[in-house]
Amino acid sequence: MNDRTRLRALLVDDDEDFRESLATLVEREGFECRGANSLAEARQGIAEEEPDVILVDLQLPDGDGLELLRDEELCARCDIIVITGNATFESAVDALRQGATDYLTKPVDRGRLKTILANVLRTRSLKEEVRHLREDLRELGRFGRMVGRSGAMQKVYDLIERVAPTSASVLITGESGTGKELVAETIHLLSKRRQKPFLAVNAGALQPNLIESELFGHEKGAFTGADRVRRGHFEEVNHGTLFLDEVIEMPVELQVKLLRVLETGTVIRVGSSEGLPVDVRLIAASNRDPQRAVKESQLREDLYYRLNVFPISLPPLRERGEDIEFLAEHFLSEVNEREATRKRWSRRALAKLASYPWPGNVRELKNTVERAAILADEEIGEELLPSGGAPLPVTGDGPSLQVRVGTSLAEAERRLILATLREVNGDKKRAAEILGISVKTIYNRLNVYEAAESLVPDTVEE
Ligand SMILES: Nc1ncnc2c1ncn2[C@@H]1O[C@H](COP(=O)(O)OP(=O)(O)OP(=O)(O)O)[C@@H](O)[C@H]1O
Ligand SMILES: [Mg+2]
Repeated sequence: MNDRTRLRALLVDDDEDFRESLATLVEREGFECRGANSLAEARQGIAEEEPDVILVDLQLPDGDGLELLRDEELCARCDIIVITGNATFESAVDALRQGATDYLTKPVDRGRLKTILANVLRTRSLKEEVRHLREDLRELGRFGRMVGRSGAMQKVYDLIERVAPTSASVLITGESGTGKELVAETIHLLSKRRQKPFLAVNAGALQPNLIESELFGHEKGAFTGADRVRRGHFEEVNHGTLFLDEVIEMPVELQVKLLRVLETGTVIRVGSSEGLPVDVRLIAASNRDPQRAVKESQLREDLYYRLNVFPISLPPLRERGEDIEFLAEHFLSEVNEREATRKRWSRRALAKLASYPWPGNVRELKNTVERAAILADEEIGEELLPSGGAPLPVTGDGPSLQVRVGTSLAEAERRLILATLREVNGDKKRAAEILGISVKTIYNRLNVYEAAESLVPDTVEE
């Protein structure tokens, strides 16, 4: 397959005139074309000459073009572009969800066809790579930088694999520390945008009045203090991927503006009226239930539908079975390598790891492993691990903090916030609950501390 100089395209449509004119366009892009007017003929064509790309109409005399997407092996080796006559957004989305690389509408727009075909070459090498990742998964239990081989995670890898090469928006949900950002990075690295920037922005961490200018930029003089033009994050990551964490924390008025960017592909800087074209893939995340946020009017329904084109929900660590032990071994071997040590788990410690509920998920496990490894000599005993049940005493016998009289309130507050965060493994939501302040306040304080000097410990800044 790799030694062929010309790529092969299979065009499946029962309208012969359309097929011929499409063939002319596709050949002009350097492809060798073969036609088929039904699913049956398409299957024969596939068997006979291994096409690199298939352009298939959704409605065929003997069935639905989407049926080709059900052949997983076929999808793994070639790109499938669906053509829809009466393109509804839903049918196109449906095709993308099922693994199509992209979609075209009739009449075919030549520019778009050209772009899609140019991408085929690039996705071909990505597919090659995904195949290697699959092998790693079987042998090492890893998918890129993600570790885990439980059934629950395999489903996640399948979804990543399907959505990565497309341009669909993705909404990742899951408890704090389940690896949402890692999933977003993995999608980016398996996409055509991999050479372009990836930027993670946390909407919950930004001052509400600054989010708009951070995301979309501003013109000089747009507001007091805007003494020069500033490009927003969308412009900065043009052609790349923007990971928007805690999207539900965005003020609702801004959600409208975000939706507009997604729909028009243009951003408008604050203080301007002109739209600037941007090509950014958006991956959003939240550790809250977005449907509930819609009901409670914190997330606009139209934005939710737009982001939710491709939902990925990450299972909590406690539902990943053997992965807990597997990840614990993985993190420990990382420590051993780094420190040139040979520490290992006691059998009881492993049993305790498996029964603990891990409210802070993978992040908590990782931090626990590091801490336990530092404290242990050779064998890591169960006493170095957190116990099941209530993971953290909210009051009473947790670790204590000494504050001398003479310390400023701000300093005492800083220490208490950081200590609490450390105790809950960086889970800002839990820290906020314990401290009786809002998550937003935590973020704002962290921003201030970080700006003052980088005193924020690693365990907090993941
Ligand atoms: N499957 C995994 N394999 C290896 N490391 C993982 C995995 N999942 C998460 N991690 C690690 O755990 C930490 C937390 O992951 P991440 O920041 O992606 O979580 P998150 O869901 O975005 O959390 P939050 O909701 O708090 O933002 C990171 O150090 C990440 O590298
Ligand atoms: Mg995150």
